[in-house]
Amino acid sequence: MREIILAIIVRLLTPLASFVEYVFSEYVLRVKEQFPLDHTSPLCHLISSYGFADSDVPDLAGKVALVTGANCGLGLAVAKKLAKHNAHVIITCRTEAKCQAAKNAILTYSRGRGTVETSVLELTLMLRVRQWTTAMKHRLKSNNSALDMLILSAGIMGCPYNVTQDGIESQFAVNHVAQAFIANEMVEAMRPYSKKSSTFQTTKPRIVFVNSFLHRISPHDTVPLSLAQINDPVRYNRAQWYGMSKLANLLFSKALSRRLQKDSRYSHILVNSMHPGGMYTNLPQRVVGNGIVRIFQPILNLAYWAAKPVLWSADRAALTPLYLATSPEVERYNYRGEYFIPIAKVGKAASVANDGVLQDRVWEFTEQLWKQPLSQDK
Ligand SMILES: NC(=O)c1ccc[n+]([C@@H]2O[C@H](COP(=O)([O-])OP(=O)(O)OC[C@H]3O[C@@H](n4cnc5c(N)ncnc54)[C@H](OP(=O)(O)O)[C@@H]3O)[C@@H](O)[C@H]2O)c1
Repeated sequence: MREIILAIIVRLLTPLASFVEYVFSEYVLRVKEQFPLDHTSPLCHLISSYGFADSDVPDLAGKVALVTGANCGLGLAVAKKLAKHNAHVIITCRTEAKCQAAKNAILTYSRGRGTVETSVLELTLMLRVRQWTTAMKHRLKSNNSALDMLILSAGIMGCPYNVTQDGIESQFAVNHVAQAFIANEMVEAMRPYSKKSSTFQTTKPRIVFVNSFLHRISPHDTVPLSLAQINDPVRYNRAQWYGMSKLANLLFSKALSRRLQKDSRYSHILVNSMHPGGMYTNLPQRVVGNGIVRIFQPILNLAYWAAKPVLWSADRAALTPLYLATSPEVERYNYRGEYFIPIAKVGKAASVANDGVLQDRVWEFTEQLWKQPLSQDK
């Protein structure tokens, strides 16, 4: 009897579903095109396989990786897995205490495999970031060492309006300006290409920018190229400005990739960006507001916790940056300036990200932000 009722319901619902799909097809298509979910939830993976697994990570003995924002979330998960596969991992965190706690967590996870070095790095002040990169390059050189992997995972999202001491809106400063600078500077410290290096399955160093599918929600689908617009407190929208910082970073990563490819000293370095998926980490739990908004934070946290089953764990999401940082496939297919989605699949970034002119303009604008006495340019 139950089966008959079910059959009737299905027979009634199927034409209804087709009708709804038909009526809204154009709209659905347009939304999908402008806002594809980029495998943001693991649910998208129910019918497709992963492109990479833990067991695919090659032996990383002798390799050196640097991971920013490695005390929690995605950065910590990536650092743990790199160490587990015998890499020497340099982790950056904002305080010495966070560095030590992360180092212990990584070594416990890797069961003593790999080695971990720590470095305190705060991304809101360009002066500190500049000092840090100089010191890190010096440290690597004096240890007779070079970087094989740079994973830029540190990030903030949806914070209340704030301008750093350098005079840059804080999401744009942390997610884009500072980490673009680090990538560009650390290129010099990356391992030179050597065909003889037969010990490693892969020989080309990698830079991985952790991006987000939310790069699509940058205001007016573009990146304003003036601080006056970026720092506008009236138009500031937490989500859109997060998207803007990620779109700027994506455009920059593509420009960096092209520039390196043209430079014979660095043309072996593979630069890519990726969206890790919607993860259950600290990130959205820090969307604290000022004043009255603060009372909504526990509700927001509860909703986020309730959504946990449909979000990626940082551990699983780490496979996409790990793929880009370690897989021989990346070298074989010569992936450069690509945008990847979970898990380890080539994704389709917003079309504006492929605008070569805009990529160069974002590069030039970013370069100005590194050099200028910023407080005078508000
Ligand atoms: N979670 C998601 O659903 C999601 C989705 C798409 C993309 N992403 C991207 O994934 C990356 C990692 O995010 P997550 O989810 O792992 O977040 P998370 O757990 O909050 O980790 C963020 C890391 O960035 C560090 N950080 C923040 N501000 C910093 C600053 N001013 N200077 C130095 N380090 C700073 C944090 O250090 P403290 O702990 O000291 O603050 C932390 O180590 C970010 O780039 C994010 O945009 C995340």
